[in-house]
Amino acid sequence: MSDRFKEIAEEIKVFKASNADELEQFRLKFISRKNVIGELFTQMKDVPNEEKKVFGQSVNELKNLAQEKFQSLIDSLSSGGTDSEDYPDLTLPPTEEDFGSIHPLTATRQRFIQIFERIGFNVSSGPEIEDDWHNFTALNFPENHPAREMQDTFFIEKDPDIALRTHTSSVQIRVMENEKPPIRTLSPGRVFRNEAISARAHCVFHQMEGLYIDKNVSFADLKQTLYHFVKEMFTKDTQIRFRPSYFPFTEPSAEIDISCQICHGDGCNICKYTGWVEIGGSGMVDPNVLENCGIDPNEYSGFAFGMGIERITMLRYGIKDLRLFTENDVRFLKQFNSL
Ligand code: DAH
Repeated sequence: MSDRFKEIAEEIKVFKASNADELEQFRLKFISRKNVIGELFTQMKDVPNEEKKVFGQSVNELKNLAQEKFQSLIDSLSSGGTDSEDYPDLTLPPTEEDFGSIHPLTATRQRFIQIFERIGFNVSSGPEIEDDWHNFTALNFPENHPAREMQDTFFIEKDPDIALRTHTSSVQIRVMENEKPPIRTLSPGRVFRNEAISARAHCVFHQMEGLYIDKNVSFADLKQTLYHFVKEMFTKDTQIRFRPSYFPFTEPSAEIDISCQICHGDGCNICKYTGWVEIGGSGMVDPNVLENCGIDPNEYSGFAFGMGIERITMLRYGIKDLRLFTENDVRFLKQFNSL
């Protein structure tokens, strides 16, 4: 009988478990209720009385040996063990994957494009480093217009003037120079202005330019198109109003206001207690601009508009500080996981 004890003890000592299955095999063989050591206990009744004590002690020793070995196998497996990297525990719950999310500015740009694509607009783009002609002159800016001056524009070169574009209206010119009407195009893009960074202003931001040129395009078309847009971008009960304004490249010109998305007209600091917030500029393309691009203003007319993508995004999601868009703070970005 003592050989059998030695045999089992030896088997326990040399046992190696490199994964959960092998650990389970050990448990079944030496620890579970019906195991080889348990079997020895059942043989106790056949052992002569004078040998019972020694027999019992030996069985207990084996039992303790198995328990200790089992614990050490568990410890070595859970601490990485020898081969355990090759055998991941498939029964462990998965760790949560952190997926990236769509940036709120991207979400707004995509929604913008979606709304206008459905009414026949395409998407066009132009360079961020622009010449004076496309950024200013072709857009009918007078020679000494303040927007050309150093405090607004980041010039890269003087004479001939090369600058970071100050607005996406430059893309209007490029499209009209290269395409024949009818033109229906949307130009999203990054723009640059020499402004101090604050909650409401940045030196790098995004605009969306819209342009529609065809025969008999009227101000009524402009109003109806933007009316449709704000109801789609915001809510069906969003109100829109046009305020007379001035831009060199449109005549007449209007600024576009919508009913405040934050307080819904009750008055708050976003709308400065007026119930209205400005989302951009618009107007009928000035005949001089059409001519500059080789389009006959007697045959064609059109409207244009330009909006700040940041501004629209802030109103859509109730974001109060423009700087959040570029800080890349995951606590901010994670709030848009569902977009
Ligand atoms: N370019 C103007 C700006 O940056 C916005 C704008 C106003 C664009 C009127 C237009 C427009 O196309 O018609 O402030």
